[in-house]
Amino acid sequence: MGIHFCPGAALAREETRIAIELALDRLPGLRLAAGNDFARHPSMLLRGLKRLDLVWDAPR
Ligand code: HEM
Repeated sequence: MGIHFCPGAALAREETRIAIELALDRLPGLRLAAGNDFARHPSMLLRGLKRLDLVWDAPR
């Protein structure tokens, strides 16, 4: 927040939305793989997961 709030936030969110929609389109049955521990990066800045394992069905 505040004067240094990321001016690219809206663009980044839009890019992410498009990327996820395309991935859902192109990877049928995209879902979480078993065994994800959802461990997070120990960072104050980027609050992402260390890894996220996904699986999908082979295109017919
Ligand atoms: C997932 C993508 C992105 C993340 C996580 C991100 C994150 C951040 C963070 C944490 C800051 C510092 C804010 C602060 O000091 O309070 C920042 C600043 C900034 N970001 Fe982003 N950003 C992203 C994408 C972008 C994009 C796409 C652009 C440009 C097109 C951009 C341009 C900037 C600029 C110019 C600043 C400096 C703002 C200032 O100091 O006044 N960022 N960003």
